[in-house]
This record gives sequence, C-alpha cells and structure tokens, in this order.
Amino acid sequence: MRSYENLNLISENREPQRSYYIPYDTLEKALKGNKEDSEYYRLLNGEWNFAYFNRDIDVPEVITKWDKIPVPSNWQMHGYDIPYYTNVNYPYAVDSPYVPDDNPCGVYNREFIVDRQWKERDTYIVFEGVNSCLYLYINDEYVGYSQGSHLQSEFNISKYVKKGSNNITVRVLKWCSGSYLEDQDFFRLSGIFRDVYLLSRDKNSARDIEIKVENKNISVSEKDYVIYDGENKIDKLDNPILWNAEKPHLYKVVVKSCSEYIPFNVGIRDISVSDKGELLINGVSVKLKGVNHHDTNPKFGHYTPYETMKSELLKMKELNVNCIRTSHYPPNPEFLNLCDELGFYVVDETDIEIHGFVSRNGGYVYDMESEDWICNQEVWKNSFVERAQRMVERDKNHPCVIMWSMGNESGYGSNHDAMIAWTKNRDKSRLVHYEGANLINDKCDVDVVSRMYTSVSGIEEFAKNEDKRPFFLCEYSHAMGNGPGDVWDYWQRIYQYPKLIGGCIWEWADHAVFADGAYRYGGDFGETTHDGNFCCDGLVFADRSFKAGSLEAKAVYQYMRTSVNGNKLTISNLYDFTNLNEYKLQWKVVCDGETIKAGEMICDIKPHQSKEYTLDFTLPENCKLGCYLNLSLTGEYEVAAEQHDLHVAIKTDSNAVTSSPKFVEEKQLIIITGENYVYKFNKHYGSFESITVNGEEKLTDIIKLTAWRAPTDNDRRIKYEWGLFEDNRSGVNLNRIFSKVYFCELADNKIIVNGSLAGISRSPFLRFNVMFTILGNGSIKVELEGKVKENCVYLPRLGFEFSIPKKNKEFRYYGMGPYENYLDMCHHTKVDMYESSVDKEYVPYIVPQEHGNHTRTKFVEIGGLRFTTESEFEFNISKYTSEMLTAAAHTDELMENESNIVRIDYKNSGIGSNSCGPELLEQYRLSEKHIKFKFYIKPVM
Ligand code: GAL
Ligand code: MG
Repeated sequence: MRSYENLNLISENREPQRSYYIPYDTLEKALKGNKEDSEYYRLLNGEWNFAYFNRDIDVPEVITKWDKIPVPSNWQMHGYDIPYYTNVNYPYAVDSPYVPDDNPCGVYNREFIVDRQWKERDTYIVFEGVNSCLYLYINDEYVGYSQGSHLQSEFNISKYVKKGSNNITVRVLKWCSGSYLEDQDFFRLSGIFRDVYLLSRDKNSARDIEIKVENKNISVSEKDYVIYDGENKIDKLDNPILWNAEKPHLYKVVVKSCSEYIPFNVGIRDISVSDKGELLINGVSVKLKGVNHHDTNPKFGHYTPYETMKSELLKMKELNVNCIRTSHYPPNPEFLNLCDELGFYVVDETDIEIHGFVSRNGGYVYDMESEDWICNQEVWKNSFVERAQRMVERDKNHPCVIMWSMGNESGYGSNHDAMIAWTKNRDKSRLVHYEGANLINDKCDVDVVSRMYTSVSGIEEFAKNEDKRPFFLCEYSHAMGNGPGDVWDYWQRIYQYPKLIGGCIWEWADHAVFADGAYRYGGDFGETTHDGNFCCDGLVFADRSFKAGSLEAKAVYQYMRTSVNGNKLTISNLYDFTNLNEYKLQWKVVCDGETIKAGEMICDIKPHQSKEYTLDFTLPENCKLGCYLNLSLTGEYEVAAEQHDLHVAIKTDSNAVTSSPKFVEEKQLIIITGENYVYKFNKHYGSFESITVNGEEKLTDIIKLTAWRAPTDNDRRIKYEWGLFEDNRSGVNLNRIFSKVYFCELADNKIIVNGSLAGISRSPFLRFNVMFTILGNGSIKVELEGKVKENCVYLPRLGFEFSIPKKNKEFRYYGMGPYENYLDMCHHTKVDMYESSVDKEYVPYIVPQEHGNHTRTKFVEIGGLRFTTESEFEFNISKYTSEMLTAAAHTDELMENESNIVRIDYKNSGIGSNSCGPELLEQYRLSEKHIKFKFYIKPVM
C-alpha cells in the first residue's frame, strides 16, 4: 500500500485545525485588516517552478528542468494533463482506497527568504487548498503530508527553515485515498489552487481562537481582547446591533496574544427553529433565497481570486439572493469573510461526496448495506469525521454560517452518524443538515430535513407531514441552459407554509473552460467518460453575466409584492429586517406603450407588513393595446418590479376597406392583387409563398406551420418524445415534419385549407383547417383550428414560421419584454412597446438551444410586415433556424441562416427545470387537444 492510499495516514505533521485568522504586528494594521500589511504574514502566491509528470514514479531524485506555473492555479488550466468533467462516475476504477498506479504528479518549487526577526519566532506554512494531496519538503527535508482538497493544511516549519534563502518543494498528486471523498460533479482539476502563505508566530501565541455569541453577548476563548464598533472601542455591549443578511452589522474583536493582534469580524445573531418549523434568525422567520456555489471559472478553474469572489457575491445581492450553500466543500476562507460583510446566510458543506459508488457495479443504486460502501466502514470513519471537524473548526467564528452540511450524495451510514454527533456536540449554536439522510427517511439527528429536486407538489407534502423539523430544498430549479422556469411555483408554496424555509437553486454559475473562442465542456478534452454539458447549469453564465433565468430568480426572490384594486395599491414588505422606506417606489400608468401618469413615493412599511396607498391617476375609457401600472422599487439599482393590468377596454382599429383585392387562379397559384401589392398563394402547399408590396418581396420562403423548437437543456428528456434523434426512435418526430394539404379552395375573399402535420414514420399529430381572409386593406386574417391527436405528447410549440430577407434585422413589438420569456419564466418581464433586433434577441447558451421567445404579444413589426392580434400570441425572431440551433453543440458551430425567421406562435411550452428537476408543470404545457388561433398579417403599404 502506498502512503497516499493508507487510511491510517491521512495526514502527517499537520497542525490541529484552528479557526481561520491572520495575525498582525500592530493594532492599527489588525483593525485595517489588510493581510499584506502584516509583518507576520507572507503570501507565497506567484510564479513557482513546476514540473509535471504523468506518473509519480517518474519523478527523479533531482529535477533539473523546471517550467513555470502561477500559484494558485490548476495545472490542467495551464496545458498539463486535461480538464476532465465527470458528474457521478469516478474517473478511475472504484476500488477504495486504491487509486490508479499511474498517478500524475505536479512538483512545485520556489525560494523564500526568512529574515532574522522571523527566525527568532515560529514559522508556519498554510495551504488553503491543494487538490488532491501534498507532500511538503523544506530545504529538501520532508515536513509532512495532507489531503482534503478544500480544507486548510498548516505545518510548523520552524525547525526546517534557516535565516536567509530557503527552498520549498511541494509534491502534489492527482489522486489519493481522499479522492474517493471528492467525487463532486465538476471538472476534476489538480494542484495548489488556493493561497499559500507563511505566518510568523510567537512561540506562545494562541492557536485556536473561538468567538462565541450567546444571549447577545460576545465571549472569546482568549482573555486579552478588545471589541470595536467601527472606530469605537466598546467596553460593554449594551443592546448590541444584531447581524443578519440584510443588515450585516459587524463588530470587530481584536485578540492580543503575545506580540500578535488577531482581528475577527463578529456578528451578533441567533439561530433557532420555531415550533412551526420556521427558521428564526434573531427570532424573525426567514426564508432562504439561495443558490449553490461552486468554485469555478472559465479561465482559472477552481482558483477563486478575491475580486472575482467579491464581484460574484455582489451579483448575488443584485439578484436578491440571501443564502449560499457552498456546494460541495468549504469555500475559500475569504469567501466567508465576504459573506459576513455583505450579508449572506451560508450553509457550509464539508468536502465529502462519494456519489460514484452508486454506479460501481453499473446501474445506479444506493446499496449502503454492501460491504464496500465506505460510509459504513470503520476504516473510513476518521476520514469522514475529520473533514467535518476541519470545516467546523476553521469556520466556526463566522456569523454568516448558519448551518453545517455533512457533505453531498454519499449515501447514509455510521460514519454520517459519527459526523453529525461530533458536529452537534461541538457547535450547538447552528443547525445541521445532510440531504443523504433521505435514504433513511431522515431518521437521524439532522436538525433540518433536506431534499433535492422535489416537485412543487412534493414540497407541499413535506410541508403538511408530521415531522416538526424545517424543510430545506438544498437543490432545486436546475438552472441549466435556458431556465430555470419553475422558481415562481416553488415560492408560492414556500411562502404559504411556515415549515418550508426555502432552498438553493442549482447552481450559481456555468462550469466551462474557455478555449478557442467558445466555452468548452465535458467531452471536449478527449475524456474517456464524461457528462457532456451537465456542468453548464448555472443561474448565470460562466462569465457571470445574467440570463433570463437569473432575472426570473431575482423577480421571484424580490422583497416586495403588490396588488391593485382601482386606484388602491397594496404593498407588502417581504424583507425580514428592512423597512421599505430605504428604497424609492416609482409608479407609472402606461397606456399603449405611452406613460400617461407617473409618480414616486417612499413607503414607510416595516418588515413583514403591508400598507394600502391611493394613487392619483385617471384611466382612459379605452385603449388600443393595453393599460398597465408599472412599479419599480429602487435603491442603488432596481430591487423589485411588478406590473398590473388595469383592464381598460381595448378598441382596435377597424380594418377599413380601401379597395377590393382581385383574385386570379393560375394552375396551383391564387394571385391576389391590390392597389400596391401582389400576394401569391400556393394551393398545392396551402400557404402564401410571396407577399410583394410596392414591388418589394417580403418573404424568402413559403409560410409554414411548425411545432419544433430547438430543445432546451430542460427539454433533454422530453425531446426524445418530441423528436427524432439517432439514439432514440420513440418520438412524434416533430423535427422531420410532413405537411399535407387535402383540400384548398378560394371562396370570395377567403382561402380555406384543410391539412395535417405528421412526423416521419408517424401518423398525423395535428389535423387542421386554416382560413385566410384577404381584407380590403390588404391585411390577411389567419384563423387556424386544429385537433391534436389523442395520446400525443404535449407539443414544444405551434405556430407559423415566416422567412424574411436577412437585411430586416430591427423590429418593434408590444408584448412581454425586453428579455426573452416563456409561460412559466416571465416574472422578470413586462408588457410594453419595445424595440429590438435579431442580434439582441440571440442568447449565447453554451449549447445552442431555443431562446428569444416573447409571450403575451399583440403586435410585432419587422421588414414591412405587421403581425397583430385581438388576443395575444407568442413570437420569436431569430437569425438561426430551430434546426440549426438543434444541430449545434457549441456557439462557434452556429452559422447565420440566409433569412431571418419570424415565428408567430399560438403557444410555446414553458421551460421548467427537468434537466434534473421534475417534469414541466401541466399548466405550462401546450397540451390542449383543440386549438383555435387567430392573428393578422398586415403588410405595411
Ligand atoms: C445533484 C448534485 C449536484 C449536481 C446536480 C446536477 O444531484 O448534488 O452536485 O450534480 O445534481 O447538476
Ligand atoms: Mg453528485
């Protein structure tokens, strides 16, 4: 057995885990908290010598040829080895604790200086994160060993260092026994990926320091300390200001230990559970509006620079997120400092996932009773428990941490009992959850019952069951690609039931590697096994830019809800600790896209309270498109927005007759001529093939009735029922469609078509009649009546596709915008008059897919064609066809179509989150069997 496979030797000479802090040499510096100012801190980040070996056995005694690599980083992001994306499956044989004999090794080396002052004290080296394990040598002498990629490893190197120049060598192995505990769903990346630094310590200074907050009081494990509130020293904490995620008030405790000043941010807050199962923060019931956060960056891999972490946390704030689950390991310790400061409730998860055991015999089974399932094995116990211990000991002083998580997807066993017992005994001030407890029906000592991807009705069942514990969705609304579409429906229930304390959307950002002009994912690096783009499942894109799903989550998570009755507006403040008067409410009455009255006000409404206001506006008797009340709550930026239909009667323009069109039939064509237009209708195909106005052709192809959309990631299951794919032959095959016309006739100014649509090898899924009426002004009224086959799967969409000349890029519409929206993912948009273009409508999902839809539209105009309706339609305008989007696997494979495609749809099914979550909710499916659809094509004369 090799030492890195020896479960009795998971560390050697590593210091006992202590709380995270940096010691300073003066009080002023400690208060300022700029680490690099400290005489006792020396960051070893930067360029290191590096030598990579495919097999550790090839590492020579003396390395003579060094490359350079930045520390921190992952070597796969710098041209060594390959990024390897796998979700559940281990990337090697499952034979614990043994790892491949060919074990890649990266050797890191650099010099550092120890001056005299340091030599008289103790010197420690701290590694904040090394994947998967490290052997440390100072001046060629072996110091120690550690594993646990996302945990801290500290060594006392005093006896190895000398005054002047010293040499450090770190041997990092790609695999070790610990890798079995790190089967998280991510790119498998190796190396020193978090900070490395030296600390100069007094021989007798405090090591572990614990700050406790009990009964609104601060107690410190050291005697000598001072509490500050901002600049002010506090002698006695009377009536302290409490910490919460909305108002993260921090006190500073500076511990004096020998010559060291050690600062901590301390938040005074208290966590409890009510008898209704609510989560109480300082006695107030709080709902967790969460996301799951992984360390991922398209350029840096798992390295998380401070500025990047900060900017992404600010983006979470912007999206009204108040909770983060650090899936699936403890984050960079500075991440938690930022969460203390910016205000987030953190579910800190330890570095354990053994998911791949489910598939070690093929299939997918949690057979925990089997001998080789390691969470029941005594030899593995210490490996499990020490990971919980190292997390808790490192992070125990953070006010942001409200819950400990015992890891992810590891089954349930005695080692979990041991972890939970240790954690609960060590820290009684926080809650413990572990989703794997579901495998034993939660019959264990977790404080919170948690699940992932439970359906909306499923969480309602939990809400109503006997269990008194809070229910937490540690993962929900799988945000892969275009989506998630179901956040709204979850939150209707979460607000309804006290016991439902909220959840964390899976997951914050897309994991991808940016290379050769596009984002790459699993399979793009020649991995033997991989899970494709299942890592591209973020609520924000890999570069952290927002997509519709991000804004949808923001709209659902927002802290204001309103309702309208005449001129009365009722506003509810959903903040837990913030008066709405900290923001400004702007209101506007918008009629047919024009503001007719506007105002703004400050609403003095306490948290969890509502108030009624009377707005001063008068409505017109009627309007052409619609009349709405738009509300926007803003501080530094808009934090909440809502829109209410004011239900003003709609009076449309009459289709006044200017002159009667002439109809001529020529073979299969019906030629319709008016004052300045000529239309050609093809009787054989039952549709218009040409619309010419003032001599200009508006179409580049015949108008088609279609049902296909490029499957979204959330359609990844249903798409096999919808379409024909190489690996499946069970669909309705809507992507290989045959359109049949049985009958077509001209009667007065009407053309009547009777036809059907069928997928290849299938009987028709739709039988229809369309009546095209040519009105006196040249408008074409389209009336479709269809019958969908019984037992047919719900349709992706249904509507007419118009190919128009490519030069027509800009357009106007009155409908839901300005961002793409779908039946279930629309709370981030509002009805208004918008301008857009085919370029603006494109959304660069990492795997190209359906995008750019607009619901509740009454009017679109592009390229001299105006589409209108008395009711509503959905539309989409794209420079790509659905077929092109279906075929492309990366954005750089997309080539623009020769024409732009306008879709005027009866309906487009919702988005949901079925990439991992439940099936699309019934109410958002195009599942009706009788379809009636009417709209007008009005060429602009
Ligand atoms: C969950 C898991 C996550 C991730 C997700 C799918 O089962 O906990 O790590 O794999 O599914 O994206
Ligand atoms: Mg997993």
